[in-house]
Amino acid sequence: MEKRVIKMAIPLLFAALMAEILAPASAVSLSKGSFEDNFDIMFSESNFKTSKDGQIWFLSLDKTSGCGFQTKQKYRFGWFSMRLKLVGGDSAGVVTAYYMCTDVEASPTRDELDFEFLGNRTGEPYLIQTNVYKNGTGGREMRHVLWFDPTEDYHTYSVLWNAHQIVFFVDRVPIRVYKNNGKPNNFFPDEKPMYLFSSIWNADDWATRGGLEKTDWKKAPFVSSYKDFSVDGCQWEDPYPACVSTTTKNWWDQEPSWHLSDSQKKDYAWVKRNLVIYDYCQDAQRYTSPMEECDLSPWE
Ligand SMILES: *[C@@H]1O[C@H](CO)[C@@H](O)[C@H](O)[C@H]1NC(C)=O
Ligand SMILES: *[C@@H]1O[C@H](CO)[C@@H](O)[C@H](O)[C@H]1NC(C)=O
Repeated sequence: MEKRVIKMAIPLLFAALMAEILAPASAVSLSKGSFEDNFDIMFSESNFKTSKDGQIWFLSLDKTSGCGFQTKQKYRFGWFSMRLKLVGGDSAGVVTAYYMCTDVEASPTRDELDFEFLGNRTGEPYLIQTNVYKNGTGGREMRHVLWFDPTEDYHTYSVLWNAHQIVFFVDRVPIRVYKNNGKPNNFFPDEKPMYLFSSIWNADDWATRGGLEKTDWKKAPFVSSYKDFSVDGCQWEDPYPACVSTTTKNWWDQEPSWHLSDSQKKDYAWVKRNLVIYDYCQDAQRYTSPMEECDLSPWE
């Protein structure tokens, strides 16, 4: 065990014990989603806190540092979900990210699936940006507005990942469908297992109105809150166990999960009509000919 993990575990264990002692018998079990069971802090422990019962995790950004955590385990395929409440008030320049990645560092050969929440001035809408990386290359951004204020309450952000598609969900509504055409060397990350990460950092060089809005440090610290982490996926153990097969009995690998259901298609059509504000597949200035995957139908 690494040193920083041990340092983390003591206050959390204490919090867990206190919660056991103080909580009524019906209190939620700490075992499944507890922080220390699932995660390590990546950097700046002092910017990480939990609620007394250990169920809510807070990441804060101040002028000196942001903060991040990652799963101890890697996974290949499954359903990955977390409830987030984003920095409220004036959060221009602040980015909260929730993502999956094959590597701990920004490796030049990493695969990555991103949710990024781009803060804004008070009363102006947050944007949610998604992106897909394969072997270190990204550039697959989409941006959506949300149909609620993500700073008011917790909402669920999830990824379904299998050999056929990657679907980004907000409160179980599919906002983005990214398909695999199954061709060799295509732009679909499906070979390498990924960790799940979350972090908060200052990105006022690009995030809000293209970098025009700067972070107002008088409003620091900026805090994003997390709870109810859940994974229903294949946990990876080197060198290469059960997660290899794409024909397992796991629901996320089964035929109904290879495409949207009828009711998901209705939701997705609504998202496409109302919420998309940027799609790299439509950006002719940036890409003179659209990327190969842009031709794949999300409806099949
Ligand atoms: C992945 O990227 C690395 C570094 O950019 C490159 O050398 C390698 O050929 C790439 N691999 C594939 C399979 O494209
Ligand atoms: C912030 O608010 C402005 C004004 O409403 C809007 O144009 C912009 O898309 C919003 N989001 C970001 C991330 O800039």
